[in-house]
Amino acid sequence: MASFSIDPGVKSMRTEQAVPVRLVDYRPPDWLVETVALDVSLDPTRTRVRARLKLKPNPQAAAPAAVVLDGDELVLRAVTLDGEALAADAYVATPDRLTILQPPNRPFVLETETELDPTANTKLMGLYRSGKAYTTQCEAEGFRRITYFPDRPDVMAVFTTRIEADKAEAPVLLANGNLADAGDVLGTTRHYAVWHDPFPKPSYLFALVGGALGVIEDSFTTMSGRKVALKIFVEPGKESRADYAMGALKRAMRWDEQAFGREYDLDIFMIVAVSYFNMGAMENKGLNIFNDKNVLASQETATDADFNSVEAIIAHEYFHNWTGNRITCRDWFQLCLKEGLTVFRDQEFSSDIRSRPVKRIADVRALRGHQFVEDAGPLAHPVRPEAYREISNFYTATIYEKGAEVVRMLKTLLGPAKFRAGMDLYFERHDGRAATVDEFVACFADAADYDLTQFMRWYRQAGTPELAVEANYDAGAKTCTLEITQMLPPTPGQPVKEPMVIPLAIGFLGPDGRDRPVTLAGGPTLERGVVTLTQAKQTFAFTGLDERPVMSLNRGFSAPIKLTANLRDGDLAFLAAHDSDSFNRWQAVQTLATALLIENVAAHRGGAPKRGADELIVALAAIIGDHGLDPAYVAQAMAMPTEGDIAREIGTDVDPDAIFAARRELRAAVGRALGSALEAAYVRMTDKGPYSPDAASAGRRSLKNLALDLAAAGDPGAGVARAAKQYRDADNMTDRMASLGVLSLYAGPERQEALDDFYRRYDGDALVIDKWFALQAVIPEPETLDRVRALTAHPAFSLANPNRVRALVGNFVQANQTQFNRADGAGYAFHADTMIALDAINPQVAARLMTAFRSWRALEPVRRGHAEEALKRVAAAPNLSRDVNDIVARSLGTG
Ligand code: BES
Ligand code: ZN
Repeated sequence: MASFSIDPGVKSMRTEQAVPVRLVDYRPPDWLVETVALDVSLDPTRTRVRARLKLKPNPQAAAPAAVVLDGDELVLRAVTLDGEALAADAYVATPDRLTILQPPNRPFVLETETELDPTANTKLMGLYRSGKAYTTQCEAEGFRRITYFPDRPDVMAVFTTRIEADKAEAPVLLANGNLADAGDVLGTTRHYAVWHDPFPKPSYLFALVGGALGVIEDSFTTMSGRKVALKIFVEPGKESRADYAMGALKRAMRWDEQAFGREYDLDIFMIVAVSYFNMGAMENKGLNIFNDKNVLASQETATDADFNSVEAIIAHEYFHNWTGNRITCRDWFQLCLKEGLTVFRDQEFSSDIRSRPVKRIADVRALRGHQFVEDAGPLAHPVRPEAYREISNFYTATIYEKGAEVVRMLKTLLGPAKFRAGMDLYFERHDGRAATVDEFVACFADAADYDLTQFMRWYRQAGTPELAVEANYDAGAKTCTLEITQMLPPTPGQPVKEPMVIPLAIGFLGPDGRDRPVTLAGGPTLERGVVTLTQAKQTFAFTGLDERPVMSLNRGFSAPIKLTANLRDGDLAFLAAHDSDSFNRWQAVQTLATALLIENVAAHRGGAPKRGADELIVALAAIIGDHGLDPAYVAQAMAMPTEGDIAREIGTDVDPDAIFAARRELRAAVGRALGSALEAAYVRMTDKGPYSPDAASAGRRSLKNLALDLAAAGDPGAGVARAAKQYRDADNMTDRMASLGVLSLYAGPERQEALDDFYRRYDGDALVIDKWFALQAVIPEPETLDRVRALTAHPAFSLANPNRVRALVGNFVQANQTQFNRADGAGYAFHADTMIALDAINPQVAARLMTAFRSWRALEPVRRGHAEEALKRVAAAPNLSRDVNDIVARSLGTG
């Protein structure tokens, strides 16, 4: 191989305002890669990567052109073409590009050698070190930080990976696919492993791992009888904490066979848990790499919510094997094709193996809490964006959660059988290919013979549709007429919108609380109660209604919309007591509480008289008194809207202190009024037997801990004592954290004693110490900012570890409404300073945390001014990354 040195002046800088990438500019790649043979020799600071690419001209492309390979901070050591050294004027190499100027117009072999420093890689993209282990993260554009390559998902190649490392430093060597060879490097302290993945895949699904890891092993026999080895690798000593993940993996594998007919395809499936990770987890073919917080779970260290999300995320990444890997995305504009669809699949999995109503409520809460907020602010974008400056900023609630809702609406429109037929057709037509959203939707249109042209607007138009329903009952005709108007508000770059296709599930409750048939005048009885809206304004008449019905609208949250209706006084309370649709029964309670809170927030600011909570308390009393209801459901229904929920519903001129005050008063009023029912629930929901993380036990604990919290709001003295006792007696992390959460709301000796005890108990257990940081970050008191600032200097804090940063800073800015949004602007200033420092270490995580400013325009003027000032200060910081620059510019409306 020819060696040469590169011009050190061309050091990679991604600080420039990048030119946006546009969907309309998509062109097929000029060159395809048939096979890649990687040879990676691991070393803490000088890892050597040899890549042998079999390139061929793409018959789909225009005239054969130069070969342009992506790079990112790469150092080229050597390059050959068909084994021959390349002349210096035959190519151009910079840290972010390798161009072969006049390649032959035929298949050829290109070999490169690059060198990298995994220890210095604090961005955690490409090849980096997590503790002592070597690991990779390539989605979306990290593979180019390992070797020069056409790093785009429509280039799918067969990978063979040889890894070499010091035996003592990295006894375990893993890559995608099946193990082909392994052995010692004779005469050295090093060894190697060769992995071969027979399935062509895009570079973003590449992974390798090397390190001293513990492992648990199991197996799964697929529906066609093939035995697959399952291995989960963790930090040595943590093996037993991976048992729950292994069980979840097997449940997910079985479910995908039963629900979608999808079978696993390699001989081995591996998961590796690492403690330094930018995201939650990654679906690399046959070698998923996880943030260890989403794998490790034990009674002593993980809450029920942690167990729940371990199961959901293990399933999500596993499901990508078909929706993402076997069928991948043509380009990153199609990201929802794999993410929205896979979220839909993991939601269905959790619904099937846990409680469907409880899961739906949790998902809708998350959708409104994240996606509706995103959609209402400067970062709003369509489910299929049309342009981006930095793709890693588009792994958003809109792509994921709204993307999943769009798939769910397809199922609602077509019905389960035709939906399944569409999915089957998708797998059949596009297996082994890089597909588009249009191709995905075409499968449903074809399988169901259903015109989905207008439905495609869900992918193109940003914003949350607003529906207004006006009902008129005609006693003489026994008819109820619904006049429905839809409006889609403007979003950045989209001032004018077209009407959407909205599947609206409705029900009519009679005076006895039972459902009446939903029968269109002169038409059929709608079995599932779904009317399909397509126009800005439509009228539907329903017949056969002997008395004025109470309307239950958007049952099951059949469309991701906002809704208003001319309900009468008492209708919501009636729905809260009787709706057969459990989602809407929950929704009725939420709507009652939200309306009351909004009024009282206004009262707080304007000095108007406050409205009492009597109607809401009656509804809540009925729910907590109904022992036939699932405790997890009762806990959801009893939970007040969050401060974020209230702020979102208010929408403009938001004053977080007034919201906090109104909510605290309501919690106290409910706690006082329902004190004895809450105490009874606390006692009834306390399990005597051993801990189990199953959904039913977790549901009982969730109601018990809700009762603990609400009762304390009503009677802090008794509540703090009970919480302190629960903290001491707890035999599991759910109960311990819940009691600590209650204690943390009440300044006093119990709080600091418990916090100190917690640190001593779990010192050195990173995932639990993250909870300790998180808890202190969310205390709603003016002293918290100083506490958080002091904690950034704690010996256990590090800006280099994303989990630690998210625990402390992430929780402060996302979950502490009053203290991040301090009226003096000090919360914003702290965040700006911290993010400028973090950006130099890890731009992706900094960019994500900068989205905490996304609703700044909705704030009251004083806070709005401070927030704008903080954003502008970040925008002006020197050497800002493209990641942070993109978020800040769009937030300010200058990007
Ligand atoms: N493919 C993503 C991981 C990813 C996201 C890589 C962004 C690079 C950039 C993975 O499948 C994923 O979606 N992970 C989620 C968790 C999931 C359960 C929604 C995550 O990491 O948050
Ligand atoms: Zn995903």
